[in-house]
Amino acid sequence: MFRSLLFGLFVASLAQCSVIKRDAPGIVASLNAISSQLATMNSTLNTFPGGAGNTLVALQVQGEAQTLLDTINNGTKVANQTGPLDVNDSALVVDAVLTLQPNIYGVLNHIIAAKPDFDTAVLGLASAAILVKSDLTNLKNSTDQLFSATVSKLVTDIQNLAPLVQALVDLYFVEAINTYS
Ligand SMILES: *[C@@H]1O[C@H](CO)[C@@H](O)[C@H](O)[C@H]1NC(C)=O
Ligand SMILES: *[C@@H]1O[C@H](CO)[C@@H](O)[C@H](O)[C@H]1NC(C)=O
Ligand SMILES: *[C@@H]1O[C@H](CO)[C@@H](O)[C@H](O)[C@H]1NC(C)=O
Ligand SMILES: *[C@@H]1O[C@H](CO)[C@@H](O)[C@H](O)[C@H]1NC(C)=O
Ligand SMILES: *[C@@H]1O[C@H](CO)[C@@H](O)[C@H](O)[C@H]1NC(C)=O
Repeated sequence: MFRSLLFGLFVASLAQCSVIKRDAPGIVASLNAISSQLATMNSTLNTFPGGAGNTLVALQVQGEAQTLLDTINNGTKVANQTGPLDVNDSALVVDAVLTLQPNIYGVLNHIIAAKPDFDTAVLGLASAAILVKSDLTNLKNSTDQLFSATVSKLVTDIQNLAPLVQALVDLYFVEAINTYS
């Protein structure tokens, strides 16, 4: 009886080990997927034709923002399911974060510059700018969650540098959100 209880605990902890796996490649793949969707959105933001045509582009950006949000949230799920990373895996993840960072800044600056185009695009009854503000707020929230989920798996020395990177990213988000407020 006691023996079978122990055996049960052993099996349970084994099962847990297979769920909590070290998974730098999963996190890196998620971060790279986000980078590539940011590049797509950046290109779309170049296609505002001016006038009534702006509405179609604003709709396309809406769709891309939703896909981006789903991808970010999936990345958080992947990071949450990942075990603590060793120094080499942490380095791989940091590399992907450093690739992602300028892409985030670039798209946020581009969104700020496109404010006049979103203002003239009409989705439903309102200007698309209202939807952009809501997208930005959701994207900031999800990015913050992805960031803390990812950072919590890195080796301590790198974790200590993370608040600086997050503060910079947040600064860009806040500036973009303020532009649309
Ligand atoms: C979530 O991310 C992982 C790792 O990048 C990927 O393998 C998986 O297909 C993604 N799932 C969805 C629903 O996007
Ligand atoms: C990730 O884990 C955090 C902390 O446990 C939790 O608040 C969050 O909802 C989780 N997110 C996802 C997408 O799994
Ligand atoms: C980490 O990477 C270094 C240099 O590539 C390698 O020599 C070392 O064996 C790796 N350590 C682990 C634990 O994989
Ligand atoms: C985003 O688009 C702008 C304007 O065309 C361009 O200058 C910038 O290099 C692009 N950034 C990325 C990361 O593609
Ligand atoms: C932030 O994002 C998480 C994960 O998608 C979600 O569960 C939470 O409700 C969001 N919080 C706000 C304030 O939007």
